[in-house]
Amino acid sequence: MIDVISDLARLRARVRDWRREGLTVGFVPTMGNLHAGHYSLVTLARKHADRVVSSVFVNPTQFGPSEDFTRYPRTPDADTSGLQAAGCDVLWLPEVEAMYPFGVGLAANVHVPGISSVLEGECRPGHFDGVCTVVTRLFNQVQPDVAAFGKKDFQQLAVIRQMVADLHFPLDILAGDIVRETDGLAMSSRNQYLAPQDRAVAPVIHKVLQAMRDATRAGMPRMQVEADAASALRGAGFVPDYAVLRRPDFGLPVDGEGGALVALIAAKLGRTRLIDNIEFELPG
Ligand code: PAJ
Repeated sequence: MIDVISDLARLRARVRDWRREGLTVGFVPTMGNLHAGHYSLVTLARKHADRVVSSVFVNPTQFGPSEDFTRYPRTPDADTSGLQAAGCDVLWLPEVEAMYPFGVGLAANVHVPGISSVLEGECRPGHFDGVCTVVTRLFNQVQPDVAAFGKKDFQQLAVIRQMVADLHFPLDILAGDIVRETDGLAMSSRNQYLAPQDRAVAPVIHKVLQAMRDATRAGMPRMQVEADAASALRGAGFVPDYAVLRRPDFGLPVDGEGGALVALIAAKLGRTRLIDNIEFELPG
């Protein structure tokens, strides 16, 4: 039976007991409204650790003032039973007051420079500070051996990896593949905001990412690939924030040079902002 814990002392006691038995701990942080993408991270963590803790916390500090913090979907009962079915041992469910004991306004802030200020960071100023600030707290609360993050949020994963390396967190980061609906749309808690006619259009993002990959492989210059992607998105009714081709470290690729690449898209469809990406290799 999954144990739902909202008290930090109780969480610590539970993790301490596991450690006394010589068991390792995996961790999957989430904001709830869980779907198969989240559950795949629980499965991944289970493969690398004896016990799994997952957190559900809709973190106010990573939402901008005009973003969807108050209407973000909250489904605690379904999340609890889903986590139990996925093999999670403890659901860590902190209150905002417990997470930020001095209040959100006085919270110590964790900023990872450079990588936090491009793409998502440019469109959502302060977003990654909020993510790093809460993930630092969660790591200190749970003290896991491994923590799993999804490649769906490719830049978040990179920011977290840099934070873990820079601040010497004693844990390993695991990366989970993107879980998609059968029509290619990357699963997301925000998909349910989409009106039926927009939901039918949303898989275009994945198709455009595949087209970016194929055009790059066929030798099209990066600028043309990006321009074509943006106009394909606009043509389908999206308002793109970006549609770009980057190195996995977010450096600009040089046309014709082989190696690992990632195409990344963020685009609004009505009021809903969707992000997705595709990684691929270009033979050198
Ligand atoms: P949330 O959006 O709930 O996502 C929790 C984790 O699930 C993240 O690591 C995310 O990349 C992963 N995930 C979401 N959709 C996925 C999909 N379709 N396939 C694979 N993995 C997917 O990301 C956050 O919450 C927050 O920023 C958090 C890290 C919890 C900090 O508040």
